[in-house]
Amino acid sequence: MMLERPRRNRKSFGIRQMVQETKLHVDNLIYPLFVEDGNKIKEEIPSLPGNFRWSSDLVLDEIGACMDLGLKSFVLFPKVANHLKNREGTYGYKKSNFYLEIARKIKHKFPDCVLISDVALDPYSSDGHDGIVENGRIDNDRTLSLLQKMAIRQAEAGFDILGPSDMMDGRVGAMREALDESGFCETAIMSYSAKYASALYGPFRDALDSAPVDDANIPKDKKSYQMDPSNKIEALREADLDVVEGADFLMVKPALHYLDIIHLLKENYNLPIAAYHVSGECAMLIAASQKGWLNYELVMPETLLSIRRAGASAILTYFAKDYARLHR
Ligand code: PBG
Repeated sequence: MMLERPRRNRKSFGIRQMVQETKLHVDNLIYPLFVEDGNKIKEEIPSLPGNFRWSSDLVLDEIGACMDLGLKSFVLFPKVANHLKNREGTYGYKKSNFYLEIARKIKHKFPDCVLISDVALDPYSSDGHDGIVENGRIDNDRTLSLLQKMAIRQAEAGFDILGPSDMMDGRVGAMREALDESGFCETAIMSYSAKYASALYGPFRDALDSAPVDDANIPKDKKSYQMDPSNKIEALREADLDVVEGADFLMVKPALHYLDIIHLLKENYNLPIAAYHVSGECAMLIAASQKGWLNYELVMPETLLSIRRAGASAILTYFAKDYARLHR
């Protein structure tokens, strides 16, 4: 006789739904959108099929279409023209910059959406780094004052949550202080706490043309600020600092190769955990699906579910709109 038969709880769709331990809802998803200056631009990113660079007129339509599907959280990344880039990324805090203009338009038209920013120098930096490069090194502390200026401008423009993706030491505290002093105590910070120096960011850097430039005086990678993929305890150290400095969310990035880190932070902190399912992770699955080697409609939700199961409350993913469309 066999008393224990786990299959009884998998017998039918209804029972399987009833005993499901993890639910993934479109409310958990944040959709990254690339924006650029201009009109009527919808340019596909070759290494990330199905994703586009949008001008402000068309991104408003795209956000409207997503809201109709029940998807209401967005993170915006700017593609900045080369002639606007400089070593200190000053366009990032120029009041009239197109990124801030787009944010104002979005929040005006869709006050209920959740709009998340990117706080980092790289889209604006002629060196392609997240910090100021000085004599071949990243100047952490001078970078902080630029991040503070960007943060205030973004809060003024109406972003609900600011996302420092730069990995400079002390940025969360510096931003929190600057925001509070300027009266933006309600603007939240989603800190990229454990952001690894990963090879999975390629399509994103293609989309923004933001890779470190090839020059002997410029660090060729981001390993002096992004984390070593070997390290786990260091993720706790970074998260400890973000908590003390006033972060509202702790993010792990990338997601799938770092599910253990997501789980670790979930177990150790009371803040909601976000995970960034990055461009390279999506590109792999899209490419295999296009070849007919994987079934996109099955592998896509399984992937997102696994990130949720590991402990993420919020998942930044290029699959967000497809998930919303297929799982309404
Ligand atoms: C940089 C930034 C990167 C991503 C988001 N912000 C790339 C990098 O560190 O070079 C990558 C996201 C993705 O690959 O989808 N501030």
